[in-house]
Amino acid sequence: MAKRSVATAPSLGPAAVILFGATGDLARRKLLPALFGLWRSRTLAPESRIVGFASEPYDADAYRRLVEDALGQEALGTTEERTLFCRLLTYLGGDFAVPADYARLQADLEGAPPDRLFYLAAPPPTYPAIVERLGAQGLARSVSGAVTRIVIEKPFGSDLPSAQQLNRRLHRHFREEQIFRIDHYLGKETVQNLLVLRFANTLLEPVWNRNYVSQVQITAAETLGVEHRGVYYQGAGALRDMVQNHLLQLLALVAMEPPVAFRADDVRDQKVAVLRSIHPLTPYQVHSQVVRGQYASGIVAGQPVCGYRQEPGVDPASRVETFVAARLFVDNWRWAGVPFLLRTGKRLARRTTEIAVEFQRPPQTLFADTMAQGKLEPNTLVMRIQPQEGIFLRFGAKAPGQDIRVVPVEMDFGYGDSFGATTGGEAYPRLVLDALRGDATLFIRADEAEAAWRLVDSIRAGWDADRGGGREPASYVAGSWGPAAAGRLPGRRHRWRQD
Ligand code: BG6
Repeated sequence: MAKRSVATAPSLGPAAVILFGATGDLARRKLLPALFGLWRSRTLAPESRIVGFASEPYDADAYRRLVEDALGQEALGTTEERTLFCRLLTYLGGDFAVPADYARLQADLEGAPPDRLFYLAAPPPTYPAIVERLGAQGLARSVSGAVTRIVIEKPFGSDLPSAQQLNRRLHRHFREEQIFRIDHYLGKETVQNLLVLRFANTLLEPVWNRNYVSQVQITAAETLGVEHRGVYYQGAGALRDMVQNHLLQLLALVAMEPPVAFRADDVRDQKVAVLRSIHPLTPYQVHSQVVRGQYASGIVAGQPVCGYRQEPGVDPASRVETFVAARLFVDNWRWAGVPFLLRTGKRLARRTTEIAVEFQRPPQTLFADTMAQGKLEPNTLVMRIQPQEGIFLRFGAKAPGQDIRVVPVEMDFGYGDSFGATTGGEAYPRLVLDALRGDATLFIRADEAEAAWRLVDSIRAGWDADRGGGREPASYVAGSWGPAAAGRLPGRRHRWRQD
């Protein structure tokens, strides 16, 4: 197949990027490499400044060495490029809660480019204090024609009341157009391609509804366990960690109406409408439509692994879920009655994130033998997000021979085949670039975060009610596809895709 060209971004004006949590894992592994990439491609102007803000008592040179090492470990660029890039860096060792440290930050920013991007990659409990201090110091205001923006990493709150409170606090100091709430799934090329597939083509739209679609399955399966994040995960669980954000975002992109234009508010209006069409679940619905599980020890990729309760930082009697499967309904004109099956978990059999849209079977039984033997598979369109990247359509074809025998075959689009390279799966370069240029299309709006929490809170409330009866997440063997109970969610005539 002929290779297609890959688009590059136009360059930006100089900016000051202030990284809260500048020594943390996210900054070192994702954000600084993303900024380095933008600088290397000359998208980020060479007069830009990056101010690292964290509690460690480094000086600028020590911080530069830390960043050079981090970039080196990711094997990015040449030594000379890394050294040159690190000249953009300065460092402020301080306390996010102490007003005097914001006065120092302000002094530090004297002479830096007036366009500012505050990037909150610090522990989420520090967000309210940071927002408050930035506001009090007058740093949230844009100065003389320049722009000031703030990026906030997930989790955005831990339930609806805390998300509302954080939104109120942000809005006291920043206008909504200045606020960029990240969900890194939206930065994945394959996720953005969902919108292109749906709205740059006419083929699918006529069948993209309850008349033709029998169910939608969204899977985000990981083979990794909680790694070193046991303490965080104890307070989160798979519902807050993956469903509230990544899975519901994927669902919203699949189910949304065409936006008026590809502009931030037009796209987000439609996504919010989808999220609001999924009514909060009653405890009974939670009981029958949602399954939670927790991994026990098992074998993953040929290696024995411990159970969740044995992970560092995890309570040995923990009831936190590492797996969630849910059957949800988008109660609107287009989707009424179509199950949206969501499934995510750690330590599952294979790493895969995909969306499968399954179409209805033909209304008439023409190829009786095949039908009688239950072999006629429904047409399925599978959008593969990662690690394979592409789209395939499964349909029935006649196998060569004297009889009519229908077998499933696939039409396959792979990024590698068509564009000569995979996307690399990196979401951050795109998201950091969009935040710098002020395009909020791939970021979460205040009402969107709240709508997702409303639904997720109803599931948690259902579990809490169940807990009164002593229920726990169902245990599953690490390396399996989750608890057996999840198998009933697709209904009698369907099953989870596992290939
Ligand atoms: C993060 C979660 O948001 O997404 C992690 O906190 C999870 O627990 C990760 O592992 C998955 O992201 P990706 O891009 O690897 O699918």
